[in-house]
Amino acid sequence: MQARKVFSKDLTRAPPTAVEPKQSILKGKVYLGWTKYQHKLFFWDWEKLVNPHMVVFGMSGQGKSTLVKTFLERCKIFHRINAVIIDFSGEYSDYAEHNLQLGSKDFLNIMDLGGLAPRERIEQLMHGFETAFGLNPKDSPLQYILLQEFLEEAYRRKGFDLDKYSENIETPTLLDVYEIAKEKYEQLEKKYKRSEGMKSSIESLMAKIRFYALHGSGAFSRKSTIRLDEITSKGIINLDLSKLPDEKARIFVGMSILEYLIDRMRKEGEYKGIKLVIVLDEAHKLAGENSPLIPLIKEGRKYGFAVVVSTQDVPDVSRKVISNAGSLFIFKLQDYEQAEYIAKSTNMSQHFMNEIFKLNRGWCIAKLNFSEEQSNTFILRVDPIIYRRVKVIFEEPNLKEILMRKIEEAEKLLEEIADKIPEEHRNNAVDLLSRLKSKDKIDFSDFIAINRLIEEFRDIINV
Ligand SMILES: Nc1ncnc2c1ncn2[C@@H]1O[C@H](COP(=O)(O)OP(=O)(O)O)[C@@H](O)[C@H]1O
Ligand SMILES: [Mg+2]
Repeated sequence: MQARKVFSKDLTRAPPTAVEPKQSILKGKVYLGWTKYQHKLFFWDWEKLVNPHMVVFGMSGQGKSTLVKTFLERCKIFHRINAVIIDFSGEYSDYAEHNLQLGSKDFLNIMDLGGLAPRERIEQLMHGFETAFGLNPKDSPLQYILLQEFLEEAYRRKGFDLDKYSENIETPTLLDVYEIAKEKYEQLEKKYKRSEGMKSSIESLMAKIRFYALHGSGAFSRKSTIRLDEITSKGIINLDLSKLPDEKARIFVGMSILEYLIDRMRKEGEYKGIKLVIVLDEAHKLAGENSPLIPLIKEGRKYGFAVVVSTQDVPDVSRKVISNAGSLFIFKLQDYEQAEYIAKSTNMSQHFMNEIFKLNRGWCIAKLNFSEEQSNTFILRVDPIIYRRVKVIFEEPNLKEILMRKIEEAEKLLEEIADKIPEEHRNNAVDLLSRLKSKDKIDFSDFIAINRLIEEFRDIINV
């Protein structure tokens, strides 16, 4: 008697499901599911869309992250596309190939240059400060300029030329910036007793960054354990920001990474197709009115990367992001105002708007904006790649017998759902079952295949 177990990791990286359509390997095509009424397979085709950027909305638990994971997984398996996930709530940690838990296990010094000159990186960081702390040149010009100066000073003191990238010099941290601010403040106090305006600006600036610079976990005051310029080349990489001290810190770090990635992709130049997907999960604040995504989305698909914004916080996402995204997927919503906000941003018809409230889990409204055809809206059932933890335990020695029992079970389920799935899936499933039935030598992968098929069928019944 033998007992063996399969855990999530094996399945995460295992080949796609048994009913994966054959067209998945075609250039530009990513299979996502099937349409409600006609049961037509839906392939997301970046060559036809105005841009490859995606917005995913819906209440918690309706299937947003599942759609995103499924998309990433098929991008990787069939098209070798890498991904960077900026994960605010820690939902991708057991999914990604590399999971980096910022602020607890892994550190990323946001002042690292990743190949940029300090002046360029400072500009990106200022954008992070603006979004996270509301520090903008209009409302608080003095603080803004001071911060810029302190950042420059921090790089200079380490020996950097502000206009050149240098590989071998250690980068400063936010703690250095804080120390510089403190030093300036003390100087002013000693020498110029009357510079109250300047002093109070430095004081408020210090108050903003003190907590982060001095925070116990050292999220902002330690050397990196990761290289910024390597995060785009490691398969599917998750930057889990959920362990950072607060939402401001997440926004700040998230924004400075996003700015870096966008800048980097632009510098790499134009590219046909997609080489990287950047996911913002529950990181809606990064897609607001000042988002660096807005100009990007308007530039279309020239740089070869796709941004996916997935969130339950609809109103935080700028209308410009919603209306210009190449594809929009809306899962069930309860809030009428949220649905209306989307409908108004996209000219969605009343019919589809009403459907938003009635969707089942795993179903969404898809709206695609093409470059040469009219936009298309339909109801989609997301067909996920199964990556979740599955346990298979064999307690009996007769493998063939167990397999046959499972095949029978699958056949019964298939009968039950036959008219709910596309014909191609049905045929693939029938093929697979007859192949398994006629096998003499059974191996472990056969059990993975049959278990998956059964799980998929059950999902279709349950969802
Ligand atoms: N298309 C689908 N088919 C089957 N199950 C699904 C589907 N989408 C979501 N689910 C199930 O619903 C649960 C919640 O989905 P998730 O993607 O985490 O939701 P969200 O990100 O919107 O909060 C998942 O654990 C998954 O098992
Ligand atoms: Mg989610």
